[in-house]
Amino acid sequence: MSKKFYVTTPIYYVNAQPHLGSLYSTVLADVAARWHALHGEKTFLLTGTDEHGQKIAQAAAAVQQAPKDFVDSFIASFKRVWDLYEINYQYFVRTTDQAHVNAVQAWIIALQKKGDIYKSKYQGYYCTPCETFVTEKDFQELSSIPTCPTCGRITHYLEEESYFFKLSAYQEKLLDFYKNNPDFITPTERIHEVISFVKSGLKDLSISRTTISWGIPFPGDDRHVCYVWADALNNYLSAIGYGNPERKKEFDFWWPADLQVLGKDIVRFHAVYWPAFLMAVDLPMPKKLLVHGWIKIGEQKMSKSLGNVVDPIKLYDTYGADVIRYYLVRHLAITQDAPFTIEDLEHRINADLADDLGNLLNRMMVLAHAQQCTTISSGQVWLSDEIELQKLFEDIVRDVQADMKNYFFHRAYAHVWKFIKAVNGYFHGQEPWKVVKSDRAAFERIIAATAQSLYLISRILWPVMPKKMNDLSSALGVEQVVLGQDHLSELCSYKWDRTFILQQRTPLFPKIVPATTDASSVKQEKVMNNIQAHVITIDEFTKIELLVGTITHVALVPKSDKLYALTVDLGVHGIRQVCSGVRQHFAPEDLLHKQGVFVANLQPRTMMGLTSQGMMLFAENPQGKLEMVTVAGAVAPGTRLR
Ligand code: MSP
Repeated sequence: MSKKFYVTTPIYYVNAQPHLGSLYSTVLADVAARWHALHGEKTFLLTGTDEHGQKIAQAAAAVQQAPKDFVDSFIASFKRVWDLYEINYQYFVRTTDQAHVNAVQAWIIALQKKGDIYKSKYQGYYCTPCETFVTEKDFQELSSIPTCPTCGRITHYLEEESYFFKLSAYQEKLLDFYKNNPDFITPTERIHEVISFVKSGLKDLSISRTTISWGIPFPGDDRHVCYVWADALNNYLSAIGYGNPERKKEFDFWWPADLQVLGKDIVRFHAVYWPAFLMAVDLPMPKKLLVHGWIKIGEQKMSKSLGNVVDPIKLYDTYGADVIRYYLVRHLAITQDAPFTIEDLEHRINADLADDLGNLLNRMMVLAHAQQCTTISSGQVWLSDEIELQKLFEDIVRDVQADMKNYFFHRAYAHVWKFIKAVNGYFHGQEPWKVVKSDRAAFERIIAATAQSLYLISRILWPVMPKKMNDLSSALGVEQVVLGQDHLSELCSYKWDRTFILQQRTPLFPKIVPATTDASSVKQEKVMNNIQAHVITIDEFTKIELLVGTITHVALVPKSDKLYALTVDLGVHGIRQVCSGVRQHFAPEDLLHKQGVFVANLQPRTMMGLTSQGMMLFAENPQGKLEMVTVAGAVAPGTRLR
């Protein structure tokens, strides 16, 4: 039976469309899977979505949707992006799937039986964007408002009954595990920060929440839902059948994961909590975590909350999938954060793909066709220049394999470019367009060596650019990569004896007219879903007259169960009547004599026969209840907000 390779991506929060950062994690996993498929291994790529928790509930509430309808609305766009980018995933897991819910509950029950869970009270800080409990030792400086160690945003204080997982009991076991498996994380240096975090002392982990309801019910206590990370991490198990006796064989076949891809912001969850969760139910550890850096825009991480995300669909429409895959894998080193610019992308597409690779193919094809040399048969007698090329390829394959062991894709594919450049040098140096005039056999040998080289290139680059490299195979008249076949062994002991039937096609990598610096920033704007599109100028803002008003009278509006007619004192701006549809949220006495914020220069409108001369502002809390917008201290009625 062939070896198996189980690789996972993080599961994505569904409070936004996928962006280039999400695509990055997914492409790395796909390239890893395809690299193993090239060895003939049976591969399983898992991806999916993380759909529970406070952050999602809040995002759903903000658009007045039920959480399930809200999360459902994102699935098609994730799948569309993965399909456009040729992500060959075997399963798409959703944490709202019943099979996942069952698996998480089975896992909790196993921990309960083992005595690893107890009930207590959580008192501390929580970061909703990261869905993380923040421990005191995380605060660099104990300021009055602690910030999250991961994202730097302000946390909020929580005090709630909670079930705890005895994480502290796993401290020594984790340290032993890291010691015995120094290669658990790639790049290996990342393990040091993990070890020092664990060494500084692990506290038991709160794994349930009572103040939110959008989550998996905690077994045996419906007032609690499972903490989102305890829920989410288990997707790696639930997707392959954990907890389902009928799928035991499948589960035993795939687990442990061979590679788990994740960004550096979620290392602690994957390198500390996750192994401890697995130890607790006596499951083997994943073999390796691949931790990549961030894609940045300028100096900032690309992220939805900063409004600086690049839209993968817009990129696809402009450049196609494979060149973007190539750029992400080859030019963003997994070890580092890297800026993304259209200028650099276009430069790399032109230099590496159009000039180095595409042009080599074109020149060979044009010349071969012009000389009716389109069928290349095996049995060439190679001379020293070709033998040198062959030796170089043997070295290159070894180097590629060595770097691929650590999933250092950027380095691995840099080796391939050494070979591509050498083949270019060979082709150019041999001057086949001159040789053909005097020595047909030599000409055929040069074309043949170039075709053999291009064949090798098409195979070794297939994990990164599957479609383009299959096109290259077709242009050479050879079969495309076949899953389940060990292509890599062929490359390792390649005999340079394939036959080819060369077919002229449209250029593999059309050259892009590079934008000037100014134009490239316009192009960059175009591929971004940028908050810039929604910004307003200060002049526009000052057009809105926001005034503090005191509510002096609250009247019911006949025949309306929603409206109040408020009498509002706006100081020097006069007394106004403002209709507000908040009767289901507030009793009259909740509003009377309170100060609120009003839009005072809205065009008056008639509601249920009454004229409304302004609008009162409210904010909706995660449970859908409205809260009044007010000022922290008393100010004179009519004070303008600025
Ligand atoms: N839902 C959690 C993961 C749970 S896994 C059990 C989560 N989701 S996320 O949508 O916020 O991020 C998913 C992945 O996208 C992470 O690996 C994260 O690092 C990656 N990226 C998000 N923005 C990124 C960049 N700007 N650059 C590179 N990767 C980034 O965390």
